[in-house]
Amino acid sequence: MKVLVTGGAGYVGGTAAAMLLDQGHEVNILDDCSTGYADTVDPRATFFKESLLDANAVATSLSGCDAVLHFGAKSLVGESVVKPDIYWETNVSGTRILLDAMRAAAIPTLVFSSTAATYGEPKEIPIAESAVTDPTNPYGASKLAVDYMISAQAKAYGLAAISLRYFNVAGAFKSQRGWLAERHNPETHLIPNVLRATAANPLKVFGEDWPTKDGTCVRDYVHVVDLIGAHISALSAAIAGSHEIINLGSGGGYTVKEVIAAAESALGRPVPYEMAPRRAGDPAVLIADITKAGKLLSWKPERDLQSMVGDALASFQ
Ligand code: UFG
Repeated sequence: MKVLVTGGAGYVGGTAAAMLLDQGHEVNILDDCSTGYADTVDPRATFFKESLLDANAVATSLSGCDAVLHFGAKSLVGESVVKPDIYWETNVSGTRILLDAMRAAAIPTLVFSSTAATYGEPKEIPIAESAVTDPTNPYGASKLAVDYMISAQAKAYGLAAISLRYFNVAGAFKSQRGWLAERHNPETHLIPNVLRATAANPLKVFGEDWPTKDGTCVRDYVHVVDLIGAHISALSAAIAGSHEIINLGSGGGYTVKEVIAAAESALGRPVPYEMAPRRAGDPAVLIADITKAGKLLSWKPERDLQSMVGDALASFQ
């Protein structure tokens, strides 16, 4: 199969490209490297260092492809609050351009990188796909808008589509070329920040008065290799004229302090940390209901928190 991977110079998209290539598929990558890194791009892929907003470049990058894995997006919650326009432009307009180009080229299948941020503050835990969607920031709203666009495209034009709503992605993949590390700048995610904390620059734990077992927030962490496995299954599970939305997490959760303990075990030393005020917009607990992923994709996550922390650490060394 030949697949266009948008955002293939980033952490999650780069992992998808490398896993597809290791499995013998052909890959085109479209990424403008605004947040990704050209040196992440696997040399076995054909690389288009172009923007999703450039319709001609998107059309060229789709040439000969059977399907698209669409990761290319802006994805920082905080940034989306202060610069919402760039979220509408890249995430919504960029996907609009991609959908038009896919239709023009008669490319039948799309798997889209959606997010648990589309649900907003949960009313019930675990969160099923039937939960109310009420995003609390423009990032989640932009991804939800795209989910609506894709549903309409499937209904009107027969696109076969699956949106995968990620909870907290972590860990790293070791491809035939070596480790693919998570490289965000600034890094806001918990696991990389825990592993990089030093006495001079300790981890800040955002809040210790949450209604959870140890007072710190609970999140549902899923290993990036398991996550991409679900995308590859979704490529063959998507049905023409249908758009399914599927959560990807582990179905369980860990507190920030439990993540710190797992990191201490991987590092073999204590993690320096200090308590800090709650971070704006953080819900107390986010856990996915992953029943639908099991049913539609025959998928279940296989890697635990210790493996996510261990692989992230190995990828940073
Ligand atoms: N945290 C800290 N200190 C840090 C970083 C994070 O205490 O330095 C805490 C956060 O408060 C939160 C937990 O660790 O309770 C996880 O935080 P992350 O920033 O790693 O992840 P989020 O749960 O905030 O966000 C992730 C994705 C978003 C997505 C969201 C959907 O990064 O893109 O899940 O649920 F929108």
